[in-house]
Amino acid sequence: MNIIPVSQPQLGTAESVFVNEALAQNAISGLYGGFIERFEREFAEFCGTRHAVSCSNGTTALHLALAAAGIGPGDEVLVSTLTNMASFFAVLYLGARPVPVDIDADTLTMDPADLARKITPRSRAVMVVHLFGHATDMDPVNELARQHRLQVFEDCAEAHGARYKGHTVGGLGTAGAFSFFANKILTTGEGGMVTTDDEALAARARSLKALAFGSTNKFMHADIGFNHRMTNLQAAIGCGQMLQAAQLVEKRREIARYYTARLERYREHLRLPIERPWAHNVIWMYHLRLQGALAGRRTEVMTALRERGIETREGFIPYNLQHIFIERGWTHPDECPVANTVAYSSFYLPTGPALGEADLDHVATQFTAVLDELL
Ligand SMILES: Cc1ncc(COP(=O)(O)O)c(C=O)c1O
Repeated sequence: MNIIPVSQPQLGTAESVFVNEALAQNAISGLYGGFIERFEREFAEFCGTRHAVSCSNGTTALHLALAAAGIGPGDEVLVSTLTNMASFFAVLYLGARPVPVDIDADTLTMDPADLARKITPRSRAVMVVHLFGHATDMDPVNELARQHRLQVFEDCAEAHGARYKGHTVGGLGTAGAFSFFANKILTTGEGGMVTTDDEALAARARSLKALAFGSTNKFMHADIGFNHRMTNLQAAIGCGQMLQAAQLVEKRREIARYYTARLERYREHLRLPIERPWAHNVIWMYHLRLQGALAGRRTEVMTALRERGIETREGFIPYNLQHIFIERGWTHPDECPVANTVAYSSFYLPTGPALGEADLDHVATQFTAVLDELL
């Protein structure tokens, strides 16, 4: 049986033309080749930021942004608890302490009221996560950050092109971090980007990502650097993706409109993705929550879909429910009650740009059949 995957990249001819160009030029590393600079320039323009610094993946982008901003041991970083744990790992790599902040039940992004409660004299930064393509409500976050002199980082791994009050994410705080993993809205296979308007932060990120080589003598290093470089081959794919960026973003919104129209009548039992009036939701994945008569039946639903040729994936498990952190005594399950209600009741449907009309019809027809059987 053919399985419809949750996401597959859509690579055009430009991607292969550019990769072949890079190969023909022998420019395959992360140190040489024109595609890196071009991709950074075009991505900065896409986000409306002054600078973009490419790197090897979304996790290293988060690490690099925090390191370049000087986050280190003793600092507390307030992070939205419902996320890919890479957001928390990046803080931990630097010896800083992540503090989980609960989410808004509708957008699944950081709840500014809980952020206000969790700020302490040791707080140095906030990391919002624009989850599943929906922007965080940034005005109250930035206002609290201003009052308490906190830096603001945006995890934009799932939100390329998402907007808040007309402004593109990645430029709404101190720095943004993007992922270009194969299932992301724009992809380079593996890849990442730090976006910022802060020239000094960009320069420091650029140095740190390449072993902080010295300027007069290359091997007299300026700092303890990392090798977080993106290769010119990946950047070549990225330049190809930039040519179809608008369509790639719009395609996921179209998929969401289609699913929502087909699932509307089950709203009593399904919580569908929303879009706040101030947001432009780019729907990284069509993420749903089971409620009413479907509460507690996620495994049944996901198994039935699998049997009908549809891949799905569970939603994230928040920081405060992760055993590895509870065992260390760093958090406890009750720290973020709203996120806990989402953790084990959610999953997402296939949402990639390569899905055709017949695939979408198949997913919706099979899913509604499963719902009709269960309800
Ligand atoms: C919210 C979020 N942050 C960070 C990451 C890490 O990105 P990467 O897999 O490119 O390291 C991901 C995705 O994988 C993500 O979804």
